[in-house]
Amino acid sequence: VTVQRLDPAAVEFANRMDRMNRLTRRLWPGRLRARLLGEVPGRVLDLGAGTGANLPYLRAAAHVVACEPGAAMRALLRTRLGTCPAPVSVVAAAAERLPFPDGSFDAVVCTLVLCSVGDLGRGLGEVRRVLRAGGRLIYAEHVRAHGWWGRVQDRYDERWSVRSAGCHINRDIGAAIAAAGFRPLGQRRIRPLLNTPLSAPLIHGVAVPAGEAGPAGR
Ligand SMILES: C[S@@+](CC[C@H](N)C(=O)[O-])C[C@H]1O[C@@H](n2cnc3c(N)ncnc32)[C@H](O)[C@@H]1O
Repeated sequence: VTVQRLDPAAVEFANRMDRMNRLTRRLWPGRLRARLLGEVPGRVLDLGAGTGANLPYLRAAAHVVACEPGAAMRALLRTRLGTCPAPVSVVAAAAERLPFPDGSFDAVVCTLVLCSVGDLGRGLGEVRRVLRAGGRLIYAEHVRAHGWWGRVQDRYDERWSVRSAGCHINRDIGAAIAAAGFRPLGQRRIRPLLNTPLSAPLIHGVAVPAGEAGPAGR
């Protein structure tokens, strides 16, 4: 039997994330997850699933693949599989190299993960590849602010990233999603109360592969 040693810093970060997710289930993060994820059908990829915060909300999914590169996150994730109404498989992989065939998912869910993907363009290219024609990318991500606050985020990004497992606070994730060949359907930008101001605002929405019509021609 091989006993894998987990990096203490990664264990601490995973526990911190998990505690925060439990504490905020009844606040805006939980309500946003419920609104975005409650009707996502079919075979769903939860990219960078962390400790499984999205699992309870994926009520309409037929099967969930929870993809997570971090061993400490996966250890907690495995204890949360029972919270998902659908069957869940856990896969150890990063966005930049997804071990799935082209077009294998009806939906890909990214919540608070694209800030941490090392090669964002490549990761989103992989998301595009594994989505089937007519599939949906559902996302909720914190992004760089416009104006002077964005410049503050630029200044603190490196320090933040070191303390937060490679998370970046100054990414234009909306532009990256569009550059990867997606067309957003009704993206919203929010600045929730009780959120760390450095990791705000957030964008959330649904995107389809560019060139495909959305529901009812949206
Ligand atoms: C802030 S947590 C969010 C977890 C979860 N999606 C949620 O909403 O609570 C960011 C997650 O992204 C994962 N991550 C980091 N780099 C990644 C990559 N290259 N590909 C996929 N996931 C990655 C981390 O391991 C971590 O679990």
